[in-house]
Amino acid sequence: MPEPTTRLALTTTQQHGPRTHTCGELRPESVGADVVLKGWVDTRRNLGGLVFADLRDRYGLTQIVFAEEVSAEAYAIAEKLRGEDVVSITGTVRERENKNHTLPTGLIEVFVADIEVLNTAEPLPFMVSAHEERQQNTSEDLRLKYRYLDLRRPALQQNILLRHRLYQATRRYMDTQDFVEVETPILMKSTPEGARDYLVPSRVHPGKFYALPQSPQTYKQLLMIAGLDRYFQIVKCFRDEDLRADRQPEFTQIDVEMTFATEELIYEMVEGLMASIWKDTRGIEIGTPFPRMPHAEAIRRFGSDKPDLRFGMELVDVSETLHGSGFRVFDSTFESGGAVVAIRVEGQGDLGRGKLDKLTKQIVLKRIGAPGLFYVKLPADGSDFTASVKEEVLPRSFVQKVIEATGAKAGDLVLMLAGPQPKVFEQMGTLRLHMANETGLIPGGNDGPWKFLWVTEFPLFEYDEEDGRFYATHHPFTSPEPEDLPLLENDPGAARARAYDLVLNGAEIGGGSIRIHQRDVQSQMFRHLGIGEAEAEERFGFLLNAFRYGAPPHGGIALGLDRLVMLLTGASSLRDVIAFPKTQSATEPMSNTPDVVNDEQLEELHIRTVVSEGDDA
Ligand code: AMO
Repeated sequence: MPEPTTRLALTTTQQHGPRTHTCGELRPESVGADVVLKGWVDTRRNLGGLVFADLRDRYGLTQIVFAEEVSAEAYAIAEKLRGEDVVSITGTVRERENKNHTLPTGLIEVFVADIEVLNTAEPLPFMVSAHEERQQNTSEDLRLKYRYLDLRRPALQQNILLRHRLYQATRRYMDTQDFVEVETPILMKSTPEGARDYLVPSRVHPGKFYALPQSPQTYKQLLMIAGLDRYFQIVKCFRDEDLRADRQPEFTQIDVEMTFATEELIYEMVEGLMASIWKDTRGIEIGTPFPRMPHAEAIRRFGSDKPDLRFGMELVDVSETLHGSGFRVFDSTFESGGAVVAIRVEGQGDLGRGKLDKLTKQIVLKRIGAPGLFYVKLPADGSDFTASVKEEVLPRSFVQKVIEATGAKAGDLVLMLAGPQPKVFEQMGTLRLHMANETGLIPGGNDGPWKFLWVTEFPLFEYDEEDGRFYATHHPFTSPEPEDLPLLENDPGAARARAYDLVLNGAEIGGGSIRIHQRDVQSQMFRHLGIGEAEAEERFGFLLNAFRYGAPPHGGIALGLDRLVMLLTGASSLRDVIAFPKTQSATEPMSNTPDVVNDEQLEELHIRTVVSEGDDA
């Protein structure tokens, strides 16, 4: 709807001069002062003879008052103001009659002497206000289309501001530790980090492509060979992978590499960085050093390589306990090398049949993909337990032993899954998280507790059943544990890597490793990954070559900056901590990205596109 241009006359001369204060600054000490404020009109109330408005900028809100008796001219304009008009006012600070103690400026207000309308706002696609309660339930698509309006909301601005403080805290800390900030190329040769590359066609080299970095992995290693000793970078990385709430196609890492690194040196440095970040962004002291847990233990106890340690509900392997039970399902599980895993869910022993059926169907069968759920209910009144499997099929004595093994008491619920290893542990890990969520064990918000954990001793390789080959669990530049080197030849699946992940409250916030720095070991690694000599030379010749000329031992880590901000702010999606994020389908609705380009551009780039019917245009 076109805006009637006559609503308000815009000022062209701007007589007020610069603002004297921001909208978040005035306190009772300034009562009586003449001030100039500039900002957006947030809310407005007309009380007849008096118009109250909230003026907003990124610093806060200040109540401004237009009294007909003070300035009839300003009052006449105020009557026509709308939300998001941009104004400049001059006026006098007064003590407020109805004080608002929840607002930093809530003890004062400014009586307006003069107003200049700097710009008007047309009717908005959705309500914008610092008063979150006035925020309507707007679809995320619409909010992303008008991201600059959405970003006016203080909640989102706070996230962006915390992110800014995190950059500064990182740079300060890294500088004190002698790290050098180096920019590495954005147009590079592809390095494999397990996702697809975003490619950029070369105009001057027909048929050739740059890749956007999935991470600066190879460059940071080359910087160590170059003798920079300690490198860091706050760097954009690009990965064309399936997106989730905690994954964006372009995201930011705090990327770090150290010469003569050991695991201990890296843990200590990162713990110091985390302590500085928590202190500088939130004023929170976190305890260091962080606990550590080998990968195998994390899977066994929590069914996850990123265990959430904010609550217990640990997995119990009840396979031994159930040997010889005669229950067909369990027996055949054991025969094929599988396991039965249990958890004790406190206080859920009286869960109704309907809820348990729903849990089985919707969560266990559908989401987790396990073939069935076994449960034992221990009523809170202390009466006899009931099991999901009939006594004739699974004798009560075995159920009793499971109850003992899990430590379940009256009022608890025991859940069991049976299946192949390690899959059944991972399935139970998902069920553990689900039950913790359902029973309120996982605190929301951003008040902690902050349960950091180093997960160590990752397997070097993961076997992909479908492709029938090994992949590097971390990446191909990761060093094997020296004592596991012999395993590379005869049992590569059992070899451990000098790799570590940093986990916080069940989220992977960083990953790194001590690298291979000797050419022979690197070639051997490529061979195990099915990368032949010619291919290795073609793809990584530059790195293998660099290893010839005095490559020092080195190692490093990359921390997911967006994920850190997400945890520090309590945001539920990465989209809420990135100024201009991508949607779940990797689009940016505001500028309509990605988009088609014209034929001349394509021609110059030697590109012909083939879009089949049904492909997303
Ligand atoms: P890795 O692939 O583990 O390691 O990435 C490091 C950290 O980056 C974050 N992260 C992401 N954040 C948002 N969206 C994504 N799509 C995304 N992918 C990863 C995670 C993760 O822990 N070069 C190695 C690091 C090294 O070995 O030093 C690397 O990139 O928090």
